[in-house]
Amino acid sequence: MKRLLIVHHTPSPTLQAMYEAVRDGATTDEIEGVEVVTRPALTASAVDVLEADGYLLGTPVNLGYLSGALKHFFDLVYYPCLEATARRPFGAYLHGDNDATGALRALESITTGLKWRAVRPPVVVAGRVGKDDLEDCWELGATVAAELGTV
Ligand SMILES: Cc1cc2nc3c(=O)[nH]c(=O)nc-3n(C[C@H](O)[C@H](O)[C@H](O)COP(=O)(O)O)c2cc1C
Repeated sequence: MKRLLIVHHTPSPTLQAMYEAVRDGATTDEIEGVEVVTRPALTASAVDVLEADGYLLGTPVNLGYLSGALKHFFDLVYYPCLEATARRPFGAYLHGDNDATGALRALESITTGLKWRAVRPPVVVAGRVGKDDLEDCWELGATVAAELGTV
């Protein structure tokens, strides 16, 4: 059994809807052999990361960057996980009011440093989250889970 870890910062109903869609995709019955574990970013530990085989990351854009919560997560786990987790697959979703450029740049820089492998580009939503956006989130979850399990 492979383990998929969802690390998310969810401070509003908008982020909650995106998180639930990603989790629903990751736990779809169509994919077998994957156990999904979820952790709020402020509680996730290096052990959580080391014990997982792939990652889904979710955050709002705050002050032109990743949320402090997700940044704290990376600050905590970066060096303890640097060698052991290289080449593991990941996906991400971000939500902002208007501009996610700085947050995306930071995410790419950090995950490149970790040598994590993006399974697909991040889902980025600005403003109101619609049905199509939630479908993209579902697909994101299912795509990363399918990378680990069998369809
Ligand atoms: C302190 C703070 C800073 C923010 N900075 C940005 C920002 O730089 N760029 C952006 O697009 N959205 C920014 N936002 C909006 C948040 O990304 C947004 O509130 C969050 O994704 C949740 O969405 P919701 O308020 O529609 O539920 C900020 C929100 C807060 C509270």
